[in-house]
Amino acid sequence: MGGWCLVLRGRGRECERLDGLLDAVRGGESRALVVRGEAGVGKTALLDYVVGRARGFRVSRITGVQSEMELAFAGLHQLCAPMSDRFDRLPGAQQEALRAALGLGSGNAPDAFRVALATLGLLAEVARERPLLCVVDDAQWLDRASMQVLAFTARRLMAESVAIVFASRVTHGVPGGAPAGTEPTGLPELLVGGLPDEDARELLRSVLPGRWDAQVLDRIVAEARGNPLALVELPRGCTPAEFAGGFGLPGGPALTGRIRESYQRRVAHLPLETRRFLLVAAAEPSGEPVLLWRAAERLRIGIEAAAPAVSAGLLDIGELVRFAHPLVRSGVYWSASPESRRGTHRALAAVTDPQADPDRRAWHAAHGALGPDEAVALELEGSAGRARARGGLAAAAAFMAPPLRRVAAPPASPARRTRAPARRLRPVRRHGHARVRAAGGARAAEHR
Ligand SMILES: Nc1ncnc2c1ncn2[C@@H]1O[C@H](COP(=O)(O)OP(=O)(O)OP(=O)(O)O)[C@@H](O)[C@H]1O
Ligand SMILES: [Mg+2]
Repeated sequence: MGGWCLVLRGRGRECERLDGLLDAVRGGESRALVVRGEAGVGKTALLDYVVGRARGFRVSRITGVQSEMELAFAGLHQLCAPMSDRFDRLPGAQQEALRAALGLGSGNAPDAFRVALATLGLLAEVARERPLLCVVDDAQWLDRASMQVLAFTARRLMAESVAIVFASRVTHGVPGGAPAGTEPTGLPELLVGGLPDEDARELLRSVLPGRWDAQVLDRIVAEARGNPLALVELPRGCTPAEFAGGFGLPGGPALTGRIRESYQRRVAHLPLETRRFLLVAAAEPSGEPVLLWRAAERLRIGIEAAAPAVSAGLLDIGELVRFAHPLVRSGVYWSASPESRRGTHRALAAVTDPQADPDRRAWHAAHGALGPDEAVALELEGSAGRARARGGLAAAAAFMAPPLRRVAAPPASPARRTRAPARRLRPVRRHGHARVRAAGGARAAEHR
């Protein structure tokens, strides 16, 4: 990726496998691969590698977001909406099913099989021009409907010049891990383990300026078990004395907590204006630069505010705005005051197109409201109805989850009180048809 230029250490075997995959697809075949490993082991870094090597390919990159897992087809929307100019090449019924799934047309709960066939056809169609690489990061957090469609598609690839590469975290049954059914199964896998000791030591040295006691380095290398995130991130900001004085790297969730704290320390050192910009980016993880700049402008944040975060290696600004790691985003979001979060969501709601993306707008508006708000409540009911039509009750419930319920349930007039229960969770009909679309949403509410 553009912003931080990474030299991958100790990944010869993995890079070879990815290069082989690209070669095969260049030669007209299709391939699918699941890159699997624990948190911080370097899955995203390998995806960056394959994207960087995909010269001549069209690349579509999407990311599963934990807080969107209940929103049916949110992931598929990320992948397919930018290809909507090709929908008319698909057979009518498939086109209709795909449009309904993505909320781009009218229609009720789409047939999953048809949506999957349509996706397969669409990717093949797009790949007629040049080979297509689809990269799906954090696949463990894709919504179930999208995961099923993408896994189906990946399993049926033949000779379309399409590659689909997933990265999925091994959760080891850790609470908050992916529920069953949201994992890409039945596909070839690339298991990514810790770096070999020598590479781990080199990586550690590259992030630690000055001279270090070899024994201390050895101990860190041993404790990090070759996990690059632990090696790169934890030593930042620590003094030699802290290392020598019993620096230990616990594994599992505790490791995540330590890394999150480390990111938060780095964010805390940035100028106020930069932290305000980071909050905008954290609250709208679609990462669309134009949207973010427009929201920032509304909040009177200058365009130059992003630069210190980019120089600090916390943010990358290319075609999309991306955080160095999901933990940076959740750290930024949750360490901001509730008032700043609300203000940011209000600005995002104001710049989100109510026609093109009504659900995302409703979601931002709800997160931006201080208390019950009739207009926002109506928007939310519409979103819940559309979500239910597309993905069932779980998706609808996501729009009615706390803290949104407090917004959606104003202490209404008696007239409203009598009609409200019947209306709740029913599709809003406008212009004579139910509008159904994939939800954007409070992706920022991810809390890892
Ligand atoms: N082989 C490598 N050489 C050097 N640095 C690496 C290597 N692999 C990963 N890194 C660095 O380690 C950090 C963690 O890597 P990355 O974000 O790719 O992990 P991940 O497996 O995607 O984690 P998560 O499951 O949390 O998404 C990043 O800063 C990345 O640049
Ligand atoms: Mg990752």
